[in-house]
Amino acid sequence: MMTSQTLREARKYEETFEKMIPEEERPAFHLSTRTGWMNDPNGFSYYQGKYHMFYQYNPYNSHWGPMHWGHAVSTDLLHWEYLPAALAPDEAYDRDGCFSGSAVELPDGRQLLMYTGVVNERQPNGGHTEVQTQCLAVGDGTDYEKYEHNPVLDERDLPEGSSRNDFRDPKMWQEEEDGSYCCVIGNRPADGSGQLLLYESGDGFHWTFKSVLASNNNRIGRMWECPDFFRLDGKWVILTSPQDMLSQGFEYHNGNGTLCLIGDYDREAGKFIEESDQSIDYGIDFYAPQTVLTPDGRRVMIGWMQNWDTCNHRRKHDEAWFGQMSLPREISIQNGRLYQKPVRELEDMRCNRVAFENLTFSGNVYPEGLKGRRVDMEIVVRPVEGCDMYRKFAVRFARSDQYQTSFSYRPGESVLKVDRKFSGSRRAIIHQRRSKVECRDGVLKLRIILDRFSVEAFVNDGEQVMTAVLYTDQEADGIYFSADGTVSIDVTKYDLV
Ligand code: FRU
Repeated sequence: MMTSQTLREARKYEETFEKMIPEEERPAFHLSTRTGWMNDPNGFSYYQGKYHMFYQYNPYNSHWGPMHWGHAVSTDLLHWEYLPAALAPDEAYDRDGCFSGSAVELPDGRQLLMYTGVVNERQPNGGHTEVQTQCLAVGDGTDYEKYEHNPVLDERDLPEGSSRNDFRDPKMWQEEEDGSYCCVIGNRPADGSGQLLLYESGDGFHWTFKSVLASNNNRIGRMWECPDFFRLDGKWVILTSPQDMLSQGFEYHNGNGTLCLIGDYDREAGKFIEESDQSIDYGIDFYAPQTVLTPDGRRVMIGWMQNWDTCNHRRKHDEAWFGQMSLPREISIQNGRLYQKPVRELEDMRCNRVAFENLTFSGNVYPEGLKGRRVDMEIVVRPVEGCDMYRKFAVRFARSDQYQTSFSYRPGESVLKVDRKFSGSRRAIIHQRRSKVECRDGVLKLRIILDRFSVEAFVNDGEQVMTAVLYTDQEADGIYFSADGTVSIDVTKYDLV
């Protein structure tokens, strides 16, 4: 297979420069970029006995730049091995970037990638506009050859009035019944908001427009990026990441966000029938998730553990790497809502169990031996009989004399807040976010996962998740609890190794 000069250079660069990043300066079990910059997960798939994760990748520095596809494989979704970069912007139709996309397996055993090719077109006034088309590459799990008839979808395949400048992030899947392929692509209709377009193909190479699967109508943000669409627990689910969101109560926050639509699907007409909408993650750093179906039938989701508006939150401007993925999360629909749980393989990494039962206190408590930055910790909080309802409970972690990050819960409002204001951040970005949570009688369940530079809190068995990155020095590893009023808590904590 021929590799271009551009791809060869990227592969040589990443091999040399990954060695400059000490292992302990990366997350341990969250996939981070091999070198340079990472954004969206791409081509998340199970192929030839391994999970494949590709990602939006600029190997050359830790800022967004010429988009390549990075590549890693894993057998348990937690320990990742890097493979050489899969795609580079090396053709006339993708010279300004190989943007997000997806992967499927072809009947002959090869892997098919579909991605968005970007070209900056010069305008008469001297400016540039991005033109986006969909392109293919075929490979063996390591090397990929771009399809000779690229692009396979361009402006001629758009419904009338739809934008050729915002036409990206194809997510393909294979239909079980007849083996044909479908894909859903983010786009902007004439009203400037977002819509998801559905395309079909018999062989994965020749694609035709089917329908507008779903329309935003300027309700939830504007452009909808990085769609995914699948059946789950008897419902149909769209995951997408809207830009330019307006806050709506506790449900959606300003800027880039995530959206889960739950409903039904009229396959004949190619129309999604929406029943409800909600955020996917209620924290700060989660975007552009993609899902895979595991061989044992679980739907697992991974997102970019970042947010376009918080990318200034970093250790230093010229650090060696920037960008990590979230934990893989098993998703399900329960009571009409999206539930998420850390992938069960994580339990195999647990060791050094520390547990406290019925720890009853007010003020601060520093349980003996409770510390760590690679941690899986379950906490149940409840009020104490004979005492007034507590006013606030907080778990504080990544703590030293100077630093700490916390989750605090106020049963009176049933609001959970993440606060990384004292995590060592020196930027004027969002440090806090509040989320309404469903708790009865002041009982709250949290499962908190720490991995050096992040925290993910799974609330009430996965009914909600709040995710945030933090770059606090690793020596800050204390964990303690505080209560305004009296609470009783059960805590089980493991180190993850
Ligand atoms: C979302 C996104 C995608 C695009 C990619 C470019 O984070 O804007 O829509 O394909 O990033 O890197």
